[in-house]
Amino acid sequence: MDADRPPIRTFGRLRSRAIKPRQAALMTTLLPGIAMPEGQFDPRALWPEASEVWLEIGFGGGEHLAGQAERRPDVFLLGAEPFLNGVASALRHIETHGLTNVRLHAGDAREVMARLPAASLDRIFVLFPDPWPKSRHNKRRLVQEPFIEEAARLLRPGGVLRFATDWADYADKALEMFQASPHFIWLAQSANDWREPPADHITTRYEEKQLGDCRPIWLELRRS
Ligand SMILES: C[S@@+](CC[C@H](N)C(=O)[O-])C[C@H]1O[C@@H](n2cnc3c(N)ncnc32)[C@H](O)[C@@H]1O
Repeated sequence: MDADRPPIRTFGRLRSRAIKPRQAALMTTLLPGIAMPEGQFDPRALWPEASEVWLEIGFGGGEHLAGQAERRPDVFLLGAEPFLNGVASALRHIETHGLTNVRLHAGDAREVMARLPAASLDRIFVLFPDPWPKSRHNKRRLVQEPFIEEAARLLRPGGVLRFATDWADYADKALEMFQASPHFIWLAQSANDWREPPADHITTRYEEKQLGDCRPIWLELRRS
């Protein structure tokens, strides 16, 4: 990211209610050991035996991140989330399940993306990003052309980005941008492919709240 002009903020609050004591303790005991390294880093060098490297952007309470990490111990999972209560909740899941294949960044995912080498990721998850539904706030949405370019840089050819939202306008605009990109191919073959969650999906907390204006829409985009 350009240090002179920080990018527009795509997230809301950084904390809400007081973090529970057990989770607060994990912020000082567990987080430092599983935090992503400072500066440029290659996730494959951090864990050479990983079969794949996945990045979840805005993992919220970490249910999906931890669930995938538990299901796929062969995969190295990176997660970024600036909402501290979410990070604390994810740490609890990571500790409870004894997960060692996860690294976290308690901050903006775009900072991490800028530090990763090209073609270093096999999958990217953007699940129910902040919808910013008012048109004057649309510019705060994460999925914009520069984000799509950066995701294309990071995914290896054949790598897949999964985007989900329950806001129809966000789904429409995101799909339009992905289809305008020469780097992505929308994998849908039939309506069910965007109406039904993919087989390996793990339900997220935000998804359960059904706060949007439509049923969830699922887009699977393959890096060409
Ligand atoms: C609506 S919540 C959904 C959380 C989770 N994915 C779920 O489905 O339960 C969107 C999350 O994205 C996070 N977020 C927004 N912008 C982000 C960014 N630039 N980098 C990382 N996380 C971001 C927010 O802090 C928030 O927790």
